[in-house]
Amino acid sequence: MEKINAVITGVGGYVPDYVLTNEELSRMVDTNDEWIMTRIGVKERRILNEEGLGTSYMARKAAKQLIQRTGVNPDEIDAIFVSTTTPDYHFPSTASILCDKLGLKNAFAFDLQAACCGFLYGLELAASLICSGRHKKVILVGADKMSSMVDYSDRATCPIFGDGAAAVLIEATTEDYGIMDSLLRTDGKGLPFLHMKAGGSVCPPSYFTVDHRMHYLYQEGRTVFKYAVSNMSEITSVVAERNGLNKENISWVIPHQANLRIIDAVASRLEVPQEKVMINIQRYGNTSAGTLPLCLWDYEKKLKKGDNLIFTAFGAGFTYGAVYVKWGYDGNKR
Ligand code: UT7
Repeated sequence: MEKINAVITGVGGYVPDYVLTNEELSRMVDTNDEWIMTRIGVKERRILNEEGLGTSYMARKAAKQLIQRTGVNPDEIDAIFVSTTTPDYHFPSTASILCDKLGLKNAFAFDLQAACCGFLYGLELAASLICSGRHKKVILVGADKMSSMVDYSDRATCPIFGDGAAAVLIEATTEDYGIMDSLLRTDGKGLPFLHMKAGGSVCPPSYFTVDHRMHYLYQEGRTVFKYAVSNMSEITSVVAERNGLNKENISWVIPHQANLRIIDAVASRLEVPQEKVMINIQRYGNTSAGTLPLCLWDYEKKLKKGDNLIFTAFGAGFTYGAVYVKWGYDGNKR
């Protein structure tokens, strides 16, 4: 029997219209464009600021564009996963809402919570389902409305994050393209450094939790920074080495867009020049699970069949990993 691979066959994306610039942020907290650009690398970020709209709104727009661009029949979708830390509701899943909005009648659906690493974990999950032979077409969405949990009075976190979503279609193929290798890890020691204190089962919402601003993202930036640089650099190098990838034959590095200094450190460890690194942090900031597919969405037209792509991400937990993808088609699908 021929080996089945899982290959990405299309990309769709969506970012909200509202642009929150560094200038506007400087009027909200004690910060400035120069600090944000040199310490983080974000110029502006998109914010979903219409009342009543959550992550599923952006995820749905991204997935709709994906379906339209690929021409896939929604009845043939076997599964849809939404990687997110900011679901519409605790339950039901954002993915189940998408099933309804997209008219997916034959799919199973759930959300995947692996913070900023959610898209990478989702790629591995989708590839495993497809390579098992039991599933043929899977939609994976990375989507986060980070503005729903960012404290816009905390200058240490509010410049970093933005809202956005992107989706990929992953299909079975017998060609030698697709998700070729992955190395994923979780180091549970990350809890004290990056979390939201209240709203879960340990500390359900109450007047006390609201009064004490416990429903916002909390981060000890310096510690997370160090773990991110060392773990992303290390794990990406391992995946590159064991697949015979090096600065000559890596076509693109696709790093999580958390901080331009982290991106530069990972690229320099691989000795890959900046023109081979997908970077859009300056326009969208850190959209958590959205960053990696949004990079694909932005750079799709430059990609060629056979390109060697290495994705890497790091997030709360801590979660981290690297995935090697041999790209499956030329240029834009639209
Ligand atoms: O996606 C999940 C993973 N997350 C990450 O990978 C994020 C990792 N961490 C980071 O990217 C960085 O640590 C931050 C961007 C969060 C912070 O940058 P930093 O270079 O580590 O700054 P710092 O926290 O060490 O702060 C340096 C100084 C402090 O002042 P003092 O104590 O030296 O006087 C801060 O109070 O910068 C000050 N500061 C600011 N100044 C102007 C902190 N935030 C700001 C600000 N504007 N927005």
